[in-house]
Amino acid sequence: MLNRNCVVIISTLLFLGDAAFVDNLSQCEIKDTNCQKNLFQNILKVQSKTGIPEYNIPVFDPIILKDVNVPVLNAANLTLVEGKLKGLSGCVFNDFTTHVDSGLASVDMTCDLTLSGKYTAFSDSELIKSVLGGDSIRGDGKTKVKIEKLNMKFDFKFKVIKKDGETYLKGKDGSLSYKYDVLGKVSFAANNLFMGDQDVSVTVTNLLNQSWKLVMQTVGNQLMSKAMERVKALIGNLFDHVPTKYFISEDLSAYVTN
Ligand SMILES: *[C@@H]1O[C@H](CO)[C@@H](O)[C@H](O)[C@H]1NC(C)=O
Ligand SMILES: *[C@@H]1O[C@H](CO)[C@@H](O)[C@H](O)[C@H]1NC(C)=O
Ligand SMILES: *[C@@H]1O[C@H](CO)[C@@H](O)[C@H](O)[C@H]1NC(C)=O
Repeated sequence: MLNRNCVVIISTLLFLGDAAFVDNLSQCEIKDTNCQKNLFQNILKVQSKTGIPEYNIPVFDPIILKDVNVPVLNAANLTLVEGKLKGLSGCVFNDFTTHVDSGLASVDMTCDLTLSGKYTAFSDSELIKSVLGGDSIRGDGKTKVKIEKLNMKFDFKFKVIKKDGETYLKGKDGSLSYKYDVLGKVSFAANNLFMGDQDVSVTVTNLLNQSWKLVMQTVGNQLMSKAMERVKALIGNLFDHVPTKYFISEDLSAYVTN
């Protein structure tokens, strides 16, 4: 008798403690772009600080980065030894559209992001030496990069599949394409940056501040392609786990293609 009560109590506790991620979702009509935009805006805001543990999705504000190497035109090596990317929870969705008949989804969002952490830098390039008129460059310190109003647009193809009697959206491999643009500006800070034995931190960050557009043209694509890997994994993981009935009100069986 006692045992039986225990089992009931324990399973009740487990059940109550087991609020699922899907319980936080609400349904949108498939054509209701505004509803979908708000739904995903809310997921980003609520879940980014906690991640979604039940799907093994880690916290995504901040994102912890380690040993990110950024070669600059064969002329210098920058490494973010360990850092934090903050701000994703505040991203604003301008558009979120899913066309279920053509299998195309489009997302348009704008974010203010801050990257901070420990960096190392090295350059022994003749080009850089001749431009700066000096010795090789070494840096080993703290850095901060602030990106104001990073606008990202991405499109991806998906199909509707059926798994265990439920419909899911499944992204097609290699179909994610994106564009980005900085509508605000990018600014930099760094310390302990040396040319020979001279501290050039202020000179160089000032130069970077002034030529941020050129800096983005040079290293922006590398950084964005790394970031997009994460976005792709996140979106894929989410849609793989959540049947469409939790966020789309219509029955999508008619569109199933597997
Ligand atoms: C549901 O949303 C609330 C806030 O609205 C949040 O605190 C909670 O962690 C979310 N639950 C799950 C299981 O993600
Ligand atoms: C950058 O680092 C890589 C690997 O550590 C090295 O092979 C390359 O020569 C370095 N480039 C410069 C310009 O220092
Ligand atoms: C770079 O720009 C940021 C933001 O405008 C500013 O705080 C910082 O002092 C600037 N750094 C230099 C060396 O001019």
